[in-house]
Amino acid sequence: MTDLDATAREILRGNDRGGYTIPTAGLYPFQWNWDSAFAAWGFSTFDPDRAWTELETLFSAQWDTGMVPHIVFHKEDDGYFPGPSVWGPGTTPASSGISQPPVAAILARKIHDSVGGTERLRALYPRMLAWHRWWRDWRCPEGVACVTHPWESGRDNCPDWDPGMANVDGSQVGTYTRRDTGHVDASMRPGKEDYDRYIAMVQFGRACGWDQKTILEDGPFLMADPAITFILIRANRDLAAIAETLGEDPTEPLAMAAEIEAALPSIWNDELQAYCARDARTGEFASAISSGAALGLLAGVENAAMEEKLAAMWDRVRYGIPSNDPAADSFDPRRYWRGPTWPVVNALIAIGLTSAGRSAEERRLRKETAELIRSGGFFEYFDPLDATPCGGDRFTWTAAIWLAWAN
Ligand code: DGY
Repeated sequence: MTDLDATAREILRGNDRGGYTIPTAGLYPFQWNWDSAFAAWGFSTFDPDRAWTELETLFSAQWDTGMVPHIVFHKEDDGYFPGPSVWGPGTTPASSGISQPPVAAILARKIHDSVGGTERLRALYPRMLAWHRWWRDWRCPEGVACVTHPWESGRDNCPDWDPGMANVDGSQVGTYTRRDTGHVDASMRPGKEDYDRYIAMVQFGRACGWDQKTILEDGPFLMADPAITFILIRANRDLAAIAETLGEDPTEPLAMAAEIEAALPSIWNDELQAYCARDARTGEFASAISSGAALGLLAGVENAAMEEKLAAMWDRVRYGIPSNDPAADSFDPRRYWRGPTWPVVNALIAIGLTSAGRSAEERRLRKETAELIRSGGFFEYFDPLDATPCGGDRFTWTAAIWLAWAN
C-alpha cells in the first residue's frame, strides 16, 4: 500500500458520518447521491461491508415514487445552502426534491464482481429497478433522459445548460446567503446569476409540492442531458446483468436501455457532429461539446464522427477529459463544470473504454488522472491545462476512484 492509498482510505474514513459519507467537510456536509455510489466503490477496495452499507443508506432515502434524491439531509448543518427547509418535500429522512446521475447500478455491479455480497445486491435490486423506472416515467418524455434542474445533472454550471438557464427568471428569488463561496474560492464556483436561477427552480418545485407532472409540463427548466442518457443506458444494461446473476428477469432493464438508445438521434447535433444537450422546450442545442458527449463511451455508443471530435478535444488539454471543449468561448479551465477535468468522470469513461477493449486510451486516461492526484492531492476537480487543484480538498469521490481505478 502506498502513502497515497493510505491517505485515500483516511479520507473515506474521515468523511464517514456513520453509514454514509459526505463528499467533503464544509462545502458538502450531507449525503450526495452519485458521490455516495463512488464512495461505495472506493470502500469496496478495503471494506466491502461498508461499501454495501453506503448504498443501502442512500436507497433508504428513496421516495415512494422510486426517485432517489440528490441530497439526503441525515443531520442538520447550517453551513450549507439550500438546506432541508428550502427544499421542503417533507420526507423522512429529509432530502432535496430532485435526483442525480443514476450510477449506482453500474458501480454495484462492479463491487459485486470484485468482492461479492450477493444477498446485499439482491436486496438493492428492486430499489435500483424502481429508480430506473422513475427515470423512464418522469425524465424521458422524448426517450432520452432530461433534467429539470442543472443540479440534477450533477454537472451544475456546464455550458450544456446555458440555453435552458437563459429562460429561467432568477429575479424574484428574494435574498439568501450562499455558503459555498465561504468554503472555496468564488472564482471556482458558479456565478450569482446562475445561483439565483438555481434557487428559482427549487422554489418552483417546492411550490408545486414536487409534483412531477407539473414540473415536467410547466417547470422553468427541462433539458435533455447526454451524460445521464448515456449513464442510464449503461446502468440499465448493468442492472440486466445483475438480474441475470440473481436469477431475475432482465427483460425490463434491457428494454429501458434499448428505448433510450433508439431515441439518441434526437440529441445528435449536426453542427457540432456530436451528441449534445438540448432544450426540450425550445429545441435549442448547447453550443459546445462537453464531457457529457464523452460519456457515450461509457454506454458503448459508437460514432466515428463524434469520436474524432472527442479525440481532438482531449488533445487540447494535458490532463484528462475536460468538462467543456477548450476550443469553445465558454471554456473556463478552473470554473467547476465549464472546463476543469473531473477524476470521477474520467473513471466512468474508463469503465466504458475497458468494456470496449480500448486499453491504450484507458491507460492514457488513468495515467493523466493519476498525475493530477499525485501532484495536487485529492481535490474535487483540476485545471486540465496546468493541473492546478480546484474546488474542495480531501474529496471523497476523488479518493474513491484513486483506490478503485486510478492508482
Ligand atoms: C451545490 O450546492 O453546489 C451542489 O452541487 C448541488 O448539488
